[in-house]
Amino acid sequence: MTTVDMRTPAALAEAERWTAHNYHPLPVVVAEADGAWVTDVDGRRYLDFLAGYSALNFGHRHPGLIAAAHAQLDRVTLTSRAFVHDQFAEFCHSLAELCGKDLVLPMNTGAEAVETAIKVSRAWGYRVKAVPDGQAEIVVAADNFHGRTTTIISFSTDPDARNDFGPYTPGFKIVPYGDLAALSAAVGPNTVAVLLEPIQGEAGVLVPPAGYLAGVRSVCDERNVLFIADEIQSGLGRTGRTFAIEHEGVVPDMYVLGKALGGGIVPVSAVAANADVLGVLRPGEHGSTFGGNPLACAVGIEVVKLLRTGEFQERSARLGEHLHAGLNKLVGQGVVAVRGRGLWAGVDIDPALLTGRQVCERLAARGVLAKDTHGSTIRLAPPLVVDEHDLDHAVAQLKAVLDEARA
Ligand SMILES: Cc1ncc(COP(=O)(O)O)c(C=O)c1O
Repeated sequence: MTTVDMRTPAALAEAERWTAHNYHPLPVVVAEADGAWVTDVDGRRYLDFLAGYSALNFGHRHPGLIAAAHAQLDRVTLTSRAFVHDQFAEFCHSLAELCGKDLVLPMNTGAEAVETAIKVSRAWGYRVKAVPDGQAEIVVAADNFHGRTTTIISFSTDPDARNDFGPYTPGFKIVPYGDLAALSAAVGPNTVAVLLEPIQGEAGVLVPPAGYLAGVRSVCDERNVLFIADEIQSGLGRTGRTFAIEHEGVVPDMYVLGKALGGGIVPVSAVAANADVLGVLRPGEHGSTFGGNPLACAVGIEVVKLLRTGEFQERSARLGEHLHAGLNKLVGQGVVAVRGRGLWAGVDIDPALLTGRQVCERLAARGVLAKDTHGSTIRLAPPLVVDEHDLDHAVAQLKAVLDEARA
């Protein structure tokens, strides 16, 4: 190791010393980034195959997004919602149109948007569906990931996310993901909403069986229940469509969006729904100091413009096929299964060979950043600006890691 190489260990030790250990990051200290690539403090370059869990769909420092942020920084950055600012209406209008919905409610983080969807659907249940006070139920799926608040982790089935954080918020029924009969049976007279990820990201990029989401739509229609699609990770181009739920031709009652909506620059989340749903909220019942701030809206406007071109959805669909073809060739050579859609893949590694964590550490040493989940699965979600050469390079590095382990 040269003296230059000494910067990474010191930076890692300093971070370890001064922060709570609620994460277990890979030993990489990023200093700069551009497009699909990042550079660490020692000048080593890595292909970013996580893309901030899909927050960086448009790549690091997309020029149009950076320009919008710079321009807004020079004008006004924060007003609070006590006043209206001149970026607000355009952002909400353009996002509502992208979603095909009447209204938008902007927040900041994904978890806040999920909380918003929960509150809105409960209020809709009491005020529109006439559910008895305090009895509203929401049906969710096992192995979900919707965020980290105390209410959201109350309906998590992941012990790491949930244990020791009770008492838990009541009002949720958990059913197996992909099991339409179980979901239908769980819906009762007091059910106000079904909340699902159209593809479960954290669970390992689990694509539900064909027809499941359409079936959920029918159950919701028949029983007067709102269908909330958490598209925070799956949406905004990731799967080759604007929304993952589009693959089944389904339109939910409420979209929950986040991550890429902030262009990889600022946290921006939102829910989008029609006026008969989102219109139930009255002044003072919900809000956020930073939600819908001028900087967030200026970036969000540009994000919606990028999505309107369809270029990123098209890239994800086309390059996704290339990625999946490459990954599928590794099945039987250290890979057990590959799932996903577009530029999003869950890759199950043979657990007898390596853990997902070991694979990610070895990939990082070879200049590719990815993240493991649940034992032996790794998630690949490169920025949608990657090219075929980048994809081939990453798959070749994964092959090399597996070949070494098999040797
Ligand atoms: C599907 C889904 N919902 C919600 C969240 C929570 O978003 P945030 O971390 O911005 O609160 C995530 C984050 O990974 C997610 O993947």
